[in-house]
Amino acid sequence: MSEGIKLPLPMKKGFGATDRVDDWWKGPTAMAAYLGIMIIYGTWRGFMEADFWIFEEFGRSAGNQTMAIESEGSHVLSPLFSPLIYPNENSWVPQRLWWMSPAMFILIFPAGFRGTCYYYRKAYYRAFMQQPTGCAVSKPWNEYSGETGLLLVQNLHRYFLYAALAYLPILSYDVWMSVNFHDPVSHAHSYGVSVGSLVLAVNVIALAGYTFGCHAFRHLVGGGADLWTRGSRPILRYRMWRVSTWFNEYHKEWALYSLFIVMFADLYIYACTMGWWTEIILWGGV
Ligand code: FES
Repeated sequence: MSEGIKLPLPMKKGFGATDRVDDWWKGPTAMAAYLGIMIIYGTWRGFMEADFWIFEEFGRSAGNQTMAIESEGSHVLSPLFSPLIYPNENSWVPQRLWWMSPAMFILIFPAGFRGTCYYYRKAYYRAFMQQPTGCAVSKPWNEYSGETGLLLVQNLHRYFLYAALAYLPILSYDVWMSVNFHDPVSHAHSYGVSVGSLVLAVNVIALAGYTFGCHAFRHLVGGGADLWTRGSRPILRYRMWRVSTWFNEYHKEWALYSLFIVMFADLYIYACTMGWWTEIILWGGV
């Protein structure tokens, strides 16, 4: 009988020490930079429409409307502010909360969805928390307690998924709004397509690909079923599970690209409302 392998395997000690000879640090470093930029940008944009402290200088209380392009006769709303809950006397929001940015009412759901996503957990545990630093790479600390304590919040992922599913029709409605134009003088209605509406459409497609490939969604449509066919025909749940599995195989790519697109969609709208860029009508319009 063989003696087998003695565990733990010998490993170099000291943060980042390893016997690996590849550029193992490039992936986590690039991920830390990418996620860091996205988090800082999203947080800044969410806060800049608030009405307190230094943020009064930038958004609506400074006289800037940066959440939607209105200048061309249609309504191109940034996905970071959709659905738009504008806290004022015409809303259900109590007066003591009127200082809040519209993004603060809604971003908890997409942020929670991404923050508890199985793929993103792997990415930011490595990039930011050094848990682990990398496969066969020494960490700065030895203890590992798993997803316990505060990290039990990760178990909420399936509930964030339900909210994320509700966002898809909401964001699709925003695309519809962006192709409906109204002449500001005659109020005549017409259809049109702008760069902004295309960006919103791509955003919905990317978010759908990310959401439908979610592990919890795959379980939702295919889990618990032990019969895939009726007679010789595949049942609907099997077909949905196959589609979800296809998206799931590329979940990392959908996760990363969809995050970029949602931030780019907001940046495009922000830049157009500030006059840095000009919204381009490709077809129709007023
Ligand atoms: S596992 Fe990534 S969104 Fe659900």
